[in-house]
Amino acid sequence: SGELGEWPWSRPGLVVAHRGASGYLPEHTLEAYSMAYGLGADMLEPDLVLTADDVAICMHDVHLERVTDVAQRFPGRARTDGRFYAADFTLDEIRELSATGGDRHRFRGCSVPTFQEFLALVAHLNERTGREVGIVPELKAPDFHRREKRPLEEVYVQALREAGYDEPGALCITQSFEPDALVRVRDAGIRSTMLELLGGEAPDRSQLAEIAKRAEAIGPSKTMIEATKGQLVREAHELRLAVIPYTFKEDEDETRRFFQDHDVDALFSDFPDVALRARS
Ligand code: G3P
Ligand code: CA
Repeated sequence: SGELGEWPWSRPGLVVAHRGASGYLPEHTLEAYSMAYGLGADMLEPDLVLTADDVAICMHDVHLERVTDVAQRFPGRARTDGRFYAADFTLDEIRELSATGGDRHRFRGCSVPTFQEFLALVAHLNERTGREVGIVPELKAPDFHRREKRPLEEVYVQALREAGYDEPGALCITQSFEPDALVRVRDAGIRSTMLELLGGEAPDRSQLAEIAKRAEAIGPSKTMIEATKGQLVREAHELRLAVIPYTFKEDEDETRRFFQDHDVDALFSDFPDVALRARS
């Protein structure tokens, strides 16, 4: 470790396995994370939401039905909007679900892991192989969790502390689309890297300067980078903000273009093997 403490910390750019090797196996499963590790990804991304009993699980949506069989297993447990919220299910109930990854995969037999199980897998692989992989956890829907009076940031901070990811130099990048969530995590004493995800319009230089006061990296979409024709990356780098765009798939040429022409510091890819080839 120590690599992330020194900027620029990615030459060549880092490959973040987006939801694990989610192009090959159901997203956010230990199988998909293990495969990403085996393929050589530099970092693994879990998105995080809370269960009814305040356990952080690896899940992109606050709803369970896109990537699990919850509707078949627990019919009648949807809210009035027809959605099945992770916040309404205990961990024991979520353990009964099959994590299918949605329509993209035919493979069955995976389950939904907790963040702690994810961290335990990473620690195990790092120790057994001697190759240290980093983590890029995303706090999902902090606003939703706050409205539901659920302690997403607190649970997250506690888990990071216990796993030793709270110090500068730890191979951990905390990300969120909601800057307030990152500020709360930092205020709680977490000093590892913060990544502010960007949606909507590209920030101008003064907005980037504000981001640079609270984060070390920005996460724009690929489209945002292309639309600004290099300006966003240039200005971010001048402010010592790393740039980590989302989300790359099987297009190796596109991935190479972002590493070489757009000079990004890392990127999120569903196909870590393709991204590793593209940066070579
Ligand atoms: O976190 C980077 C990227 O994953 C953002 O998009 O929707 O896949 O979380 P999403
Ligand atoms: Ca994400």
